[in-house]
Amino acid sequence: MKTIPFHSSRGCLSYLLIDGGEAAVIDPSEEIQTEQYLSALKEHDAALKYVIETHTHADHVSSAPELLQLTSAKLVRHQNAPSVRKDIAVRGGERLALGESELTLLATPGHTDESISICTDEAVFTGDALLIGGTGRTDFQLGDSEALYDSLHTVLGTLDDTTIVYPAHDYKERTASTLGEERASNPRLALAHDAFIAEMDSHHPPTPDLFETAIAANSR
Ligand SMILES: [Fe+2]
Repeated sequence: MKTIPFHSSRGCLSYLLIDGGEAAVIDPSEEIQTEQYLSALKEHDAALKYVIETHTHADHVSSAPELLQLTSAKLVRHQNAPSVRKDIAVRGGERLALGESELTLLATPGHTDESISICTDEAVFTGDALLIGGTGRTDFQLGDSEALYDSLHTVLGTLDDTTIVYPAHDYKERTASTLGEERASNPRLALAHDAFIAEMDSHHPPTPDLFETAIAANSR
C-alpha cells in the first residue's frame, strides 16, 4: 500500500493511501488544496473510495465535504462523531477493503470519545491519540485521560514495534515514527498509569486557533 503524506503549514497531517486502483484519504484539511489530493489520485490512477476522519478536529476545517462532493467516496467516522453524515459508522474492529489490502479500524478514545486509528499491514494512523513524542490533549471534546491510557497501552499495545506511526499533527515537519521509537522515547508513553492520568488531567494548553469555527464546520 502506498502512503502519501500531506503536511499543512500549521502542522496538520493528512494522508492518501493507495492500493490496487483504490484510495482512502485520512483527515483531509482545507489547509491543503483539494487539487493536491485529486492530482495524486490521478497520478496513481486511483479512485477515492473512503474519506476517513480520525476524530472531529478542533484546530482546522476538514475538506471532507468537498472531496465527497467531487468523488463517489464514502465518509467513515466513529458512530459517536457529532456530524450527521456518516456513510459508514464504525465503533472499532471493522475491516474495510482497499484494493488488494484491508484497513482495520481501532477505537482509540481519550483525546475525544470518538477517536479512531486506522491500521494497515505495516502502519497505524493514530489521529491525535499518539503523536510523535507526545499525545493529544484530553481536556475538551469529551476527552478522558483514563481512556487514552488504555488506548495507548492496551489497544495500540497489540501492535509490533516495527509498526510505522503516522499522526494527525506534527509541528516539526516530521510525518512518521515507529511504535518502537515511541515506546522507547515518548515521555507520555513512559508514564505509569497514575502519573499519566495526573499529568493529562492537569494539562490545559491554550484553546486552538479556529476552535469554534473548526468544531462547527467539522460537526456538520
Ligand atoms: Fe484533535
